[in-house]
Amino acid sequence: MIVTTKELFQQAYGKYAIGAYNINNLEQTMGLFQGNVDSKAPFIVQLSKGARSYTHKRMLETMMQTAAEIFPEAVFAVHLDHGDEASCMDCIDSGVYSSVMIDASHEELEKNIEITKRVVEAAHAKGLVVEAELGLLKGVEEDIKSDGHVFTKPSEAEYFVKQTGVDSLACAIGTSHGAFKFAGEQKLRFDILEDIQKLLPGFPLVMHGSSSVPAEEVARINAAGGKINGASGVDASQFLGAAKLGVTKINIDTDGRLVWCRVHREFFRDHPEEFDLRGPGKVFIPEYAKFIAAKNVLLGSAGQLDEVRAALKK
Ligand code: G3H
Ligand code: 13P
Ligand code: ZN
Repeated sequence: MIVTTKELFQQAYGKYAIGAYNINNLEQTMGLFQGNVDSKAPFIVQLSKGARSYTHKRMLETMMQTAAEIFPEAVFAVHLDHGDEASCMDCIDSGVYSSVMIDASHEELEKNIEITKRVVEAAHAKGLVVEAELGLLKGVEEDIKSDGHVFTKPSEAEYFVKQTGVDSLACAIGTSHGAFKFAGEQKLRFDILEDIQKLLPGFPLVMHGSSSVPAEEVARINAAGGKINGASGVDASQFLGAAKLGVTKINIDTDGRLVWCRVHREFFRDHPEEFDLRGPGKVFIPEYAKFIAAKNVLLGSAGQLDEVRAALKK
């Protein structure tokens, strides 16, 4: 069943975070749905602009509708990740997405407000909800590069939310996208979340760039011929602390890519004579499902499905 992120956040707020997983293809879709159903977790499927051009955007939409039929137990939102105004409008008109992210965080505050407001108006008119972003994550967000963190300012967050009527807000607190998040020790600015929560009690916040980049996963990739050096990620034991401070959505893409990379490198190392794509695919789908289920335990969303379903019936 496709629901809005708002419906999921109402249940999760202050208790746990919903996993928002980026996917690009069929194997990830199958593993994602299986893993969430196995762990009885509500979840968010994130489709980026990159994903929508890699696997045609209409193909992804059809896959989401079909997955809802194949997995009738699944309760999930279909969300555009890091959209611009044009991609948001396209998703709003698709009839499949239940949520879009307008990322105008690289713009001046007032311009960000102006763009976000237009998307919120169009989305709300069709029953969709909107995530926006304030502050900049270090690194690359889609095709926009930022050399340093610009942490979200709590007073600006309050102003922005009130001006735009947005439904959730991605905040920059020191995470970044990709596999190379911290040079030394990880430093996350939970004090910023605390201050925002005081100004916007009950308002859902979002943490991007939250992959953990497990050392053992990277070691397996490198042992099978990879060359990923100096990678590091977010300590997953921080997730529930963030959830208490109003973070209801935690975004994970990189860790799933690492699972894909490990499975395929090991498969072809161990089966050099193989060339059927279904060989590694058959290993990947259950491995990805296992990865999703384990992540949901860390997020606290595992086991919440019955309660969410009951609340949706009311
Ligand atoms: O925030 C970025 C996500 O990890 C999506 O990555 O734009 O390469 O699909 P992508
Ligand atoms: P990671 O690169 O840490 O997985 O972050 C993904 C993300 O924030 C997608 O919007
Ligand atoms: Zn992101």
